[in-house]
Formats: sequence, structure tokens, C-alpha cells
Amino acid sequence: MAKISLAGFKDPVRRPRMIMWTFAVVFGLAAFVIVALGATSTKFFCAQVCHKVQDDTIEAYEKSPHSQVSCMACHEPVNADTITFLFAKVKSGLEVIPTVGNTFSLPLNPGSALALNAKEMGSKQCTQCHSVNRVITPSEGIKIDHKKHEDAGIWCTVCHNRIAHDDVAAPPTLTAPNGSQNVVHPSFTKMTACYRCHDLEGKVKMTGIGAKAASGTCSTCHPADFELVPESHKAADWSVKLHGEKSKEIIKEMGALEVEAKKLEEEGVPAYLAAPVDECFTCHVESKFCEPCHDRLKVTPTTAP
Ligand code: HEC
Ligand code: HEC
Ligand code: HEC
Ligand code: HEC
Ligand code: HEC
Ligand code: HEC
Ligand code: HEC
Repeated sequence: MAKISLAGFKDPVRRPRMIMWTFAVVFGLAAFVIVALGATSTKFFCAQVCHKVQDDTIEAYEKSPHSQVSCMACHEPVNADTITFLFAKVKSGLEVIPTVGNTFSLPLNPGSALALNAKEMGSKQCTQCHSVNRVITPSEGIKIDHKKHEDAGIWCTVCHNRIAHDDVAAPPTLTAPNGSQNVVHPSFTKMTACYRCHDLEGKVKMTGIGAKAASGTCSTCHPADFELVPESHKAADWSVKLHGEKSKEIIKEMGALEVEAKKLEEEGVPAYLAAPVDECFTCHVESKFCEPCHDRLKVTPTTAP
């Protein structure tokens, strides 16, 4: 092994050469670091080089309106100092290991933990390009107030979780070496996800600093001329039969989702954001709407699975 010796610097004849070599090595290393950081920040690197495990995620990205936006714009800290940036690099670099070793397991990011992580996916990631004050035109029949949510400390991906990776539009197909597969993530722009905070009876569901009541009355989010009765209800036997089947189906799904919610909470996601919402109780208050009818008709209680 070559020994690092400072003797060369002491010898007046060898000194200039030693200095030149030192510069060359330092310069070479710096150039390597700069090129490596630059290269690993490109879409080519993220999408083509290391990320087999991310194939489904990238497929959805390619089809999204953000397909011309670099991965790093959303996934690296905004205006980070060098240490934070390098730390993030090393962290994402480590993700390569299971891919290269072909030991990865799916699904990726179940329950949308990343979108619910304000530190990694705060509004700053998005307001680089989008203004909170911009007046948007939502789909017909939906009202949204971006500024009120931002002021209440609610970041963009609490609602826009599948932004750039809409897995309903591009369903996952990848199978991991151990046979596991990706799942379609819930979309937080759905009405059920709004009711993680909004409440029919005006209860405060949010917790933490700045927690506020959010109204669940229909007119909060829908204009007066909006058709409030869902399509499903128009079936002839909805009131006497079908609603019960649908309700039981949902109760079953909720069981699995509650297990997932517990895991999210362990990762630090606030309980109210992790908890799944039973679709029926976005529009109906159980004690006021379901129970009286069931009591009257002597039908089995509705909450037990
Ligand atoms: C417009 C912002 C945006 C861009 C651009 C973007 N992502 Fe994402 N990405 C997100 C958000 C938000 C999530 C969190 C999704 C969730 O939790 O449901 C995410 C999640 C992911 C995940 C976790 C798996 C998953 O499906 O939830 C991976 C991996 C990922 N992105 C990789 C990439 C790669 C690679 C690129 C570039 C090819 C990219 N992203 C571009 C915003 C973006
Ligand atoms: C580097 C700039 C950039 C960043 C960062 C960015 N966006 Fe975008 N966003 C765009 C562009 C460009 C479009 C497409 C423009 C258009 O069609 O109006 C777009 C479109 C959108 C749309 C409408 C299209 C759709 O897919 O629904 C939403 C919503 C959106 N962005 C939300 C977000 C969120 C949330 C984030 C942060 C996670 C984010 N954007 C980060 C540039 C960006
Ligand atoms: C409380 C939920 C919520 C939050 C938080 C939220 N949005 Fe939205 N956003 C929506 C809804 C709902 C729509 C309307 C979607 C539709 O048209 O169907 C929307 C629409 C948009 C659109 C327009 C999409 C289009 O097709 O024109 C953009 C852009 C956008 N949001 C960006 C953002 C950004 C950036 C943030 C964070 C600063 C953010 N949103 C925070 C719920 C939210
Ligand atoms: C993380 C909690 C949270 C989620 C999720 C959420 N909201 Fe809100 N929303 C609030 C809070 C809190 C307020 C009240 C803010 C205030 O009073 O200033 C509010 C207010 C609103 C308002 C304005 C009501 C008014 O009277 O001015 C609209 C519209 C709205 N939300 C729509 C939505 C939609 C649509 C969704 C789902 C896509 C959604 N919200 C999801 C917390 C949330
Ligand atoms: C906090 C916002 C919010 C409130 C309050 C709200 N909705 Fe919605 N609603 C949405 C959003 C967002 C969508 C579109 C996304 C979707 O389909 O889930 C929607 C979609 C719908 C739809 C069409 C989709 C379906 O499920 O058939 C109906 C019907 C509906 N809402 C009825 C109601 C009724 C009835 C109330 C009052 C009990 C209500 N909404 C209150 C946000 C809200
Ligand atoms: C108009 C009266 C009425 C209302 C309101 C009503 N139900 Fe029912 N429900 C019934 C009847 C009648 C049956 C019996 C159907 C059968 O025997 O096949 C039933 C059956 C059910 C069942 C199946 C019970 C079993 O043991 O198979 C469930 C679950 C259920 N309802 C849930 C709900 C929920 C949740 C609500 C409120 C969102 C609700 N119901 C509101 C009348 C009602
Ligand atoms: C998007 C809002 C919405 C959702 C979600 C929803 N309902 Fe309804 N439901 C309504 C509206 C609006 C009516 C008609 C007005 C009323 O009776 O309050 C209605 C009526 C009913 C009725 C008929 C009552 C009667 O007197 O005939 C039953 C039963 C019912 N819903 C059960 C359910 C069950 C069970 C679920 C969950 C699977 C559910 N609803 C989900 C909005 C909704």
C-alpha cells in the first residue's frame, strides 16, 4: 500500500510537481462530484438507470401533465443547503441497493405515506411553479378554496397525492421478485378523502396546531344545482336491499384499510389523515339516518362487519 507522505512537499525539487498533482486530484474529485450530482439529478438517471422498482410509478409519470417536469423538482428539498441536498442524495442513492440486488418488494409507498409527509412533500415543492392564489377552474360541480387550506397549514399533496403518478390512469403491472405487486393508491381528491377533515355535524376532526372545523354540508363544496343523489342510489332496490350489500362491502374494505392506517400512524402520519372514511357516512349521519330506519324495520345493526 502506498503511504501518504508529506516528504515530497519538503523537498524543494519535488515540491512544484507535488503541488500540481494535489491540484489535479482535488480538481478531478470535485469534477466527479459535480458531474455525479448533476447526472443523478436527471430524469434519465432516475427513470432509466436505477429504478426497476419504480417502473409503474414512472409509467404513470410519463402519461401525466408533469411529464416535462424533472423528478427532482418535486422530490429534492427546495432551496436546500448543501448538507441537506447531499443527505437527500445519499438517501435516494441507498434506494438503489434493493433494485440492483433484485430483492425489492412491492407495493411502493402504500397508503401514500410520502404525500402525507409534510417535511418531504410540503407545499414548497409545488409553489416553486404554482401560486396558491391562482384562481383555478375546478371540474363542474366542485368548489375548492386553495388559499383557505394553505392558511390552515394543509399542504398540496394532502389532496393532490397522485399528482404526476396517477395510477388509476396508468394501472400498475410490475411484479417483484418475491411475487408481491403494486396496488392502486387511494386518490385524495375524492369526496371521501375530503371528509378526513370535513364533517357533516361540524365536528373538528383535525388535530394539532391550527386544527379547525371544516363544514361537511353539501353546499360547502357543491353549487345549488348539483345532483346530490349518487348514481348508485338510482337502482330500484337500493333502499330495500342493494344499499345493505354495498355497505357490507365497504365495511369489509375498511378492515384492511384500518390495518394500513395503523402503519401510517407508526410512520408519523397524524391519525385523522391516516384514517379511512366510510363512504356512506360522508353523506349520512349514521345515528340520524340509518339507525332510525333500521330500528323501525328491525333490520340487523349496520356497523358490525
Ligand atoms: C409534480 C411532482 C412530481 C414529479 C415531477 C415526480 N413526482 Fe414522484 N411523487 C410525487 C408525489 C406527490 C408522490 C407521493 C405519492 C403518494 O404518496 O401517493 C410521489 C411518489 C413517488 C414514488 C413513490 C411510489 C409511488 O408510486 O407513490 C416514487 C418512486 C417516485 N415518486 C419517483 C418519481 C420519479 C422517478 C420521477 C421522475 C421520473 C417523479 N417521481 C416525478 C410527486 C412528483
Ligand atoms: C417545475 C414546475 C412544477 C412543479 C414543481 C409542480 N408543477 Fe404542477 N404543473 C406544472 C405544469 C407545467 C403543469 C401543466 C400546465 C398546465 O397544463 O396548465 C402542471 C399542472 C398541474 C396540475 C393540473 C394537471 C393535473 O395533473 O391535475 C395540478 C393539479 C398540479 N400541477 C399540481 C402540482 C402539485 C400538487 C405539485 C407539487 C407536488 C406540482 N404541481 C409541482 C408545473 C409544475
Ligand atoms: C383541500 C384539498 C386541496 C389542497 C390542499 C390543494 N388542492 Fe389543488 N385542487 C383541489 C381540488 C378538489 C381541485 C379541483 C379538481 C378538479 O377540477 O376536479 C384542485 C385543482 C387544482 C389545480 C387545477 C387543476 C386543473 O386541472 O386546472 C391546480 C393547479 C392545483 N389544484 C394546485 C394545487 C397546489 C399547488 C396546491 C398547494 C399549494 C393545492 N392545489 C392544494 C384540492 C386541493
Ligand atoms: C386536512 C383537512 C382538510 C381536507 C383533507 C380537506 N379540507 Fe376543505 N377545509 C378544511 C378546513 C380546516 C377548512 C376551513 C378553513 C377556514 O375556515 O378558514 C376547509 C374549507 C374548505 C372550503 C371553503 C369552505 C367555505 O365555507 O369557505 C372548501 C370549498 C373546501 N374546504 C373544499 C374541500 C374539498 C373539495 C376537499 C377534498 C378534495 C377538502 N376541502 C379537503 C380542511 C380540509
Ligand atoms: C368537502 C367537500 C365536499 C363536501 C362537503 C361534499 N362533497 Fe360531494 N364531492 C366532493 C368532491 C371533491 C367530489 C368529486 C370527486 C368524487 O367523485 O369523489 C364530489 C362528488 C359528489 C358526487 C358525485 C360522485 C358520486 O359519489 O356519485 C355526489 C353525488 C356528491 N358529491 C354528493 C354530495 C352530497 C349529497 C353532499 C352533502 C351530504 C356532498 N357531496 C358534500 C366534495 C364534497
Ligand atoms: C329506508 C330505510 C333504511 C335506511 C334509511 C337504511 N336502511 Fe339499511 N336496510 C334497510 C332494509 C329494509 C334492509 C334489509 C334488506 C334485506 O333484508 O335484504 C337493510 C339492510 C341493511 C344492511 C344489511 C344487513 C344484513 O344483515 O345483511 C346493512 C349493512 C345496511 N342496511 C346498512 C345501512 C346503512 C349504513 C344505512 C345508512 C347509511 C342504512 N342501511 C340506511 C332499510 C334501510
Ligand atoms: C354522495 C352522497 C351519498 C353517499 C356517499 C351515500 N348516500 Fe345514501 N343518499 C344520498 C342522498 C342525497 C339520498 C336521498 C336523500 C335522503 O334521503 O336524504 C340518499 C338516500 C339513501 C337511502 C334511501 C333512504 C330512503 O328513505 O329510501 C339509503 C338506504 C341510503 N341512502 C343508504 C346509503 C348507504 C348504505 C350508503 C353507503 C354505501 C350511502 N347511502 C351513500 C346521498 C348519499
